This record gives sequence, C-alpha cells and structure tokens, in this order.
Amino acid sequence: MKPKAVIFDLDGVITDTAHLHFLAWQRVASEIGIEIDEQINEQLKGISRMDSLARILCVGGVEQHVDQQERIRLAARKNALYVASLQQLKPDSVLPGIAELLEELHRNNVPVGLASVSLNAPRILEALGLQEQFDFCADASQIQHSKPHPEIFLAACAGLGVCAVHCIGIEDAQAGIEAINASGMLSVGIGKQLEHADLLLPSTGELSWPLLQTFWLTQHSAHVV
Ligand code: BG6
Ligand code: MG
Repeated sequence: MKPKAVIFDLDGVITDTAHLHFLAWQRVASEIGIEIDEQINEQLKGISRMDSLARILCVGGVEQHVDQQERIRLAARKNALYVASLQQLKPDSVLPGIAELLEELHRNNVPVGLASVSLNAPRILEALGLQEQFDFCADASQIQHSKPHPEIFLAACAGLGVCAVHCIGIEDAQAGIEAINASGMLSVGIGKQLEHADLLLPSTGELSWPLLQTFWLTQHSAHVV
C-alpha cells in the first residue's frame, strides 16, 4: 500500500523562497513605517500576496487608512523586489532531500503535485529546472481562497485525478498544515514550530520515500476509518 500521490508546497519546501518573501515584505513594510520580524513572517507563510499585505497593515494598525489603490501599489512593489531576488535561484537552490525524493516518487510511480498559492510558482520551478518533475501544478490564479482553506490542495488532487484521503501533503507553514488536514490528506510538516502535523520533520533533509512509506502504512488505515 502506498499513497496515490504526494503533493508539495513550494515556498519553504522545494526551495528557500520563504526567506526571500520575508525580505521583500520587510523592506516594503519599513518604507511605510511598519517593522516586521521572523515571528510575524510565520503568519504570512502560505497566505496570498494581498492577504499578507492586509496582515502587515494590521500589525502596523493602519489597515483602515490604506485604500485599495495604495494596497495594489504596495503589493506590486513587494512583488518587484521579490521577483528581482529570484534571480539568485539556480538548480542547486533546491532544498536538501527534495530532488532525491522527487526521483524516488517517479521511480515508484507515485504521481507528484504542486499546491502553491504563489503566482510566481511557474517561474520558480523553471529557475530550479524542476518543471518536468511535477505531474500537475494547481493554478494559483484560479483559486478563491488562500491556505488554510483546502482549495489549492483539492485542486491539485483533482488535477491528478486522485482522492485527497489517499494522498500525502508536505508543508512548512501552519496555514498549509491546516489546509492539508482540512482536505483529508495526511500532513507532513517541515519545521520546528508547527502544530497538528501528522508527521513533523525538522528539515527537508529528513524526507525520503522509505520514511513516507512507513508513515503511510502506520497512519493511513487509522486516518480513513
Ligand atoms: C506562498 C507563500 O507560497 O505564496 C506566501 O508562502 C506568499 O508567503 C504567497 O505570499 C503568494 O506568493 P506570490 O509569489 O504570488 O506573491
Ligand atoms: Mg511554504
């Protein structure tokens, strides 16, 4: 028995773009007099660009004073900074263990999906040379809700033609773990501060197909009953 698919988050799981998002937001926030730290950044992970901005404005206590036109300007400024920083991404920017796991999944005929709410996902996969490794990438431009809503994971399952309860999802964000759990998939968390993950690993380096198989065998029957 094995999972019918494994579905990956992108930022912070495939590559360390979570930190690049933080640096771009930190700069835009400081330009409007708001300081954000890594702790606040934890709440932005997995959240769409406009929702992230709304949270930052909330931290600064100015959400009532920034109109839609200014929000669009600030989000565009953040994205320009972020996209410029993506130039540093190269095939060796893939996080430890990920390339090997993708290969093992293909060798074992386990379909692989991507569930990222980032509109920059296609250009990141291209920079990493990983476009061919995903059997289906859910289209972030077509979903209505950010994580923790399960929509993006369910879209990835639908694209792969599999039922969520037969899949594993891998995430580095609390909102992402909640999205996976709400979809009915089994969740693997990457990081130290995550709650409610079915399996928690300190880093991607611990991921492997044998580990996921053992996890699946021990958890899946209990999970679907
Ligand atoms: C998620 C990130 O993957 O994508 C969030 O965890 C980010 O931090 C979101 O805000 C949207 O990304 P983008 O590239 O469309 O601004
Ligand atoms: Mg992430």
